[in-house]
Amino acid sequence: MISTGNSPKILVTGGAGFIGSHTVVSLVEAGFEPVIVDDFSNSERSALDGIRAILGRNVAFYQADCNDAAAMESIFQKEQLSGVIHFAAYKAVGESTREPLKYYRNNLDSLLLLLELMPKYSVPNLVFSSSCTVYGQPEQLPVTEETPRLPAQSPYGNTKAICEDIIRDAVHAQTPLKAIALRYFNPVGAHPSAEIGELPLGVPANLVPFITQTAAGIRSSLTVYGDDYNTPDGTCIRDYIHVMDLAEAHVQALRKLSENTAESLYDVINIGTGRGETVLNIIKTFEQVTGVKLNYSIGPRRPGDVEQVYADVTKANTELEWTASRSLAESLEDAWRWQQKLSVEAKS
Ligand code: UD1
Repeated sequence: MISTGNSPKILVTGGAGFIGSHTVVSLVEAGFEPVIVDDFSNSERSALDGIRAILGRNVAFYQADCNDAAAMESIFQKEQLSGVIHFAAYKAVGESTREPLKYYRNNLDSLLLLLELMPKYSVPNLVFSSSCTVYGQPEQLPVTEETPRLPAQSPYGNTKAICEDIIRDAVHAQTPLKAIALRYFNPVGAHPSAEIGELPLGVPANLVPFITQTAAGIRSSLTVYGDDYNTPDGTCIRDYIHVMDLAEAHVQALRKLSENTAESLYDVINIGTGRGETVLNIIKTFEQVTGVKLNYSIGPRRPGDVEQVYADVTKANTELEWTASRSLAESLEDAWRWQQKLSVEAKS
């Protein structure tokens, strides 16, 4: 049982989601007290059971939509918060192209509401979930935080760029407010206990859940989207980071914000491993570490995919004193352990 006594309370919006649930665990382990708000629109209540199983106790939880001003204000009134980690957002790239207004309304409004409530209740510190999608296909690799952002390829990506700008402007205009936007590369894996992990809705769009579902027999075969890119084996390159490493980066960001005595601060930091991996190498590594042979074929390129992107993580190393410590093999093993647990539960 991990008990935290008078630990600083951190509001975690989207705390039942993939990255949110892992961050809740890391926060408790680091001596913070998370307060989850989630409406289960893209997550499941079972994530709270998983968090409880890992920590040996409950974490404060409110079921609410982060755009519900009255519900959010009552949480700020009840809880003496010292910071916010804002995960709650829609994130399906394809859906955002079909329903852009839904994405702008949800992702922008929830941030605006938080930025109004935080000064009102003297909550100074914000960590925001941004994405490497803001870089598009960069001209130089690896990408640093100085690499120019390119016009977003999707309304989803655009909400991340706009949210970054909104936070920067709010920090300049109102004090005390300190914020760090973390630009994630590709989060994969699961908690090693297999109590929490990714729960994609329907057919997964992302590579690793598609791989694990194919290995589990839920999908008949995996399509590799293009092998004619200008990369060593022709398939796209991404920077795949273990979700627990990513979770720990949030804790470090929060620590740095709390330690900083400035009234106002805004920073963006890449969170990746610094290593680029091809799709075929992900498949090969998965097969090696799990011993499961994947049924896959090469298909056409997926529209909108960038050829390659991976992070320069110097800033995260120096300013957050954080580095990704888990290997690709570990990420894929953990993702597979989680998938196997889901498959066993589905059968019983
Ligand atoms: C993209 C966004 C990311 C966003 C995520 C949400 C970029 C660089 N990244 O990730 O910000 O959070 O979508 O969904 O824009 N692949 C296959 N077969 C599959 C699935 C994927 O070959 O069935 C390949 C893709 O072509 C890509 C790689 O695997 O090269 C990773 O794809 P995916 O997991 O969807 O992530 P991104 O597209 O990089």
